[in-house]
Amino acid sequence: MTAGMPPSAEVVLERLRWWDLEAVQGLEAQLFGAAAWTPGQFWSELARVPESRWYLVARVDGTIAGYAGALLAGPQADVQTVAVARAAQGAGLGRRLVTALAEHAAGRGAAQLHLEVRADNGPARALYERLGFVVDGRRRDYYGRGQDAVLMTARLPLAGGPGREVADG
Ligand SMILES: CC(C)(COP(=O)(O)OP(=O)(O)OC[C@H]1O[C@@H](n2cnc3c(N)ncnc32)[C@H](O)[C@@H]1OP(=O)(O)O)[C@@H](O)C(=O)NCCC(=O)NCCS
Repeated sequence: MTAGMPPSAEVVLERLRWWDLEAVQGLEAQLFGAAAWTPGQFWSELARVPESRWYLVARVDGTIAGYAGALLAGPQADVQTVAVARAAQGAGLGRRLVTALAEHAAGRGAAQLHLEVRADNGPARALYERLGFVVDGRRRDYYGRGQDAVLMTARLPLAGGPGREVADG
């Protein structure tokens, strides 16, 4: 548990709605800086829900503290984004968000979940490895000069998933 998230905090995962975008965009700017998605990118993603996208938020005592989304394309799915507010990191929200995305993707017929992550993003790589993703490629300079992407894939359903927990999904 982190200093920013008391053990008694109530965590709820639910679908991301358009009215959540302002809070999500605020977290996005804090967490990704210059690489943050624009509002237009979020709107464009949400416009594709539920046909080919699925987005979730994690609320801690009612306040959005994380979000994640996936691209769904038949047997293949991709993690588009996952982010947890700094004050809430290290308390299992990232794991719950990715697990919930994976369950939704599996329920929609996906057999594999892919993602790209910056090679130097230790916390994210550790999260994905913990969930059973394995490295299956690398794209040199994907995020800019000297900033490689590592490609990772997990077979669905994830091993040892905790079961459905999205409140309204
Ligand atoms: C990556 C991120 C989403 C992880 O979210 P989180 O809620 O802090 O992660 P969790 O608490 O669910 O951790 C799950 C597992 O990931 C690993 N992990 C998470 N943060 C870690 C860190 N800082 N160092 C090492 N391992 C870490 C651990 O193995 C952990 O499992 P454990 O607690 O059983 O050991 C979060 O750090 C974040 O939002 N980072 C900024 C945005 C980002 O980089 N997004 C990913 C883009 S690909």
